[in-house]
Amino acid sequence: MAGTITYTMIKPDAVAAGNAGAIIKMIQEAGFRIVAMKMTKMSPETAGKFYEVHKERGFYGELCAYMSSGAIVPMILEKENAVEDFRKLIGATNPAQAAEGTIRKLFAKSIEANAIHGSDSDENAQIESNFFFATTDKF
Ligand code: RTP
Ligand code: MG
Repeated sequence: MAGTITYTMIKPDAVAAGNAGAIIKMIQEAGFRIVAMKMTKMSPETAGKFYEVHKERGFYGELCAYMSSGAIVPMILEKENAVEDFRKLIGATNPAQAAEGTIRKLFAKSIEANAIHGSDSDENAQIESNFFFATTDKF
């Protein structure tokens, strides 16, 4: 059975552009409950750890620099079928290929500065939630 938790973070481009509020509104209107949320900023080292799975990919260095360039808004979200439904709500990695009405179609600037992250599996949703929040933060 699919899990009920996913992890997301609003990325530096969207926070800097003042779009965090509009994105949070879309997330809630799509039926996700915010279980935990904060605003923070990653160091390049922290971004490097978070994206360790991508370290062999050509864009890893740029991705870590970009993700540590400004404030982010990490959140844990709850809904039935959370991971898959949230990936549908955010749209394709490249906003040029993202479906109409998705968060990335509306707010992403490029394939890298693409406004928002969404976990790709139940297992990663747990790992990523634990990376940013202590168990006691969830309510
Ligand atoms: P995310 O993990 O942020 O939800 O995005 P995703 O699953 O759709 O994409 P993924 O393949 O996991 O890539 C992670 C993030 O790396 C940046 N990226 N840049 N320059 C490039 O070709 C490129 N490709 C990916 C994006 O910020 C992407 O979300
Ligand atoms: Mg991913």
